[in-house]
Amino acid sequence: MKLYRFAVILFFAWFSVTTHAETMRAPGKTAIASAHPLATQAGMDIIKQGGNAFDAAVAITAALAVVEPNSSGLGGGGFYLLHQAKNNSNIFVDARETAPAAATRDMFLDKDGNVIESASRNTAKAAGIPGEVAAMAHLAEHYGRLPLRTSLQPAIKLAHDGFALYPRLRGIIEYSKDKLKKSPIAAQAFLQKNEVPALGFVIKQPRLAKTLQRIGEKGSGEFYTGELAKQMVKSVRDQGGIWSEADLASYHVIERMPLVGKYHDATIVTAPPPSSGGVALIDMLNVLSGYDFSKLDASTHKHLIIEAMRRAYRDRAQYLGDPDFVRMPIEMLTNPLYAAGQRNSISLSKATPSSLLPDVTDVADESPQTTHFSVLDAEGNRVAATITVNLGFGSGLMAGNTGIFLNNEMDDFSVKAGTPNAFKLIGNDANAIAPNKRMLSSMTPTFIETGKGMLIIGTPGGSRIISMVLLGVLDWLDGHDAMHVVSLKRFHHQYLPDVVSYEAGALSDEEINSLKQRGDSLKEFSSYGNMEVITWDFDNNKIEAASDPRGDGVGWVY
Ligand code: DON
Repeated sequence: MKLYRFAVILFFAWFSVTTHAETMRAPGKTAIASAHPLATQAGMDIIKQGGNAFDAAVAITAALAVVEPNSSGLGGGGFYLLHQAKNNSNIFVDARETAPAAATRDMFLDKDGNVIESASRNTAKAAGIPGEVAAMAHLAEHYGRLPLRTSLQPAIKLAHDGFALYPRLRGIIEYSKDKLKKSPIAAQAFLQKNEVPALGFVIKQPRLAKTLQRIGEKGSGEFYTGELAKQMVKSVRDQGGIWSEADLASYHVIERMPLVGKYHDATIVTAPPPSSGGVALIDMLNVLSGYDFSKLDASTHKHLIIEAMRRAYRDRAQYLGDPDFVRMPIEMLTNPLYAAGQRNSISLSKATPSSLLPDVTDVADESPQTTHFSVLDAEGNRVAATITVNLGFGSGLMAGNTGIFLNNEMDDFSVKAGTPNAFKLIGNDANAIAPNKRMLSSMTPTFIETGKGMLIIGTPGGSRIISMVLLGVLDWLDGHDAMHVVSLKRFHHQYLPDVVSYEAGALSDEEINSLKQRGDSLKEFSSYGNMEVITWDFDNNKIEAASDPRGDGVGWVY
């Protein structure tokens, strides 16, 4: 096992020293793209106070916890992909939640071994031990220039003074009304007499402001071992959960080596396990690199992308989990030779039926959650961060009167082999629940570099994150600008269910017919994703920050 890990590290290390040297140059400007204008503003405020991209990332994370609490928050976790300009190094900060020590493999099954409906989503047991506060403290201490206290200030002010309710959040409050009503404190903050407030209503979160203030004054220890920790554990247990003070005290972020791959002359720097995204992204690009798209028609091009998705998501279900618990054939899955083998099984004229794993049943589509932001500072430091509480407002439960929503990330485990989770993803032993284990994620914060430029990319969207990042990367490599990348219409295949889902406009009538003729089932889907992208063109030092037009975010270059 140890030897295996050593080999993996050597393999990654070799790649990481061979990434492009062009990024040593400094852009001289800052760019931020996030899902809310006030979060982008919070990041810029911290830059103006002398902070770097990493301080801005802390400020944006905290601000998003306030203004987009349905997507991420102090009760959640996430991944931060960093690029440090001074030594041209890439680092992956894994702040994924962990299963509490009292978690068991079958904790969401009844005595007959059947899945207890929604137990991994809407109960206090659904909450993993949060990583977001540890991540902010880690960034401030090891990479930032400003104290945590300073970078938390914009968020504290937003929580205290309030912000105007905007359409997307109002829609999600409407969708989650029953969930929110279960927590008197959540209902107090986000509902008005148990009803959804009007647009423009000022949402104030005094308890969250106080919690952020305490973390600022006392550091992240307050959250993991201090009074806050005690209060949260008591509240979780009172609500039927299984957290212990030891779970919080032992939580730590893990710095991992990002995965690095190649696609023609582009270098891909992306998320390693416990994200499945980077492995799948590199594999899909490896598969696609074997085709000359200039010689193929548009339908065949899309068919091949779909077949690459199908195979990568199949391997996700088969192999991937927490690297500290399961042995995974990462070198194999990301090896161009493995992709060459996969290409051999792809027919240009026929869809491959996804029939290797048991069929899956339909589950309700969840409203969009999770959030991504991208930052590039004047020195060339970068952050791509995707952070989450999983589904809308996580479990919907709050931890005491801290103003913190408990995540429902336990649903990202495979609660029973072959049974789909909220994103219809299946898994097996590799992603089974175990004490202190990190649940497999699809979050895929990514950097792409070529000799000509650089892309920072990521998005929320559950299982569709990986396919969205793939399409975005291909679009940018095709020469499109940041706004085009985030606006691009999307299509998706995840092996099971064996369906191509697509946004209106993603496929032409001709492409739809052609895919159907090949044997694909197709289903039009309402628009999805909330991508945040920064591009930097080295030749003319042109920098763009673009936020997905499907959301309310803002990209800003300064
Ligand atoms: O880590 C994951 O893959 C999920 N918890 C992400 C959830 C998400 O993107 C929700 N958005 N629709």
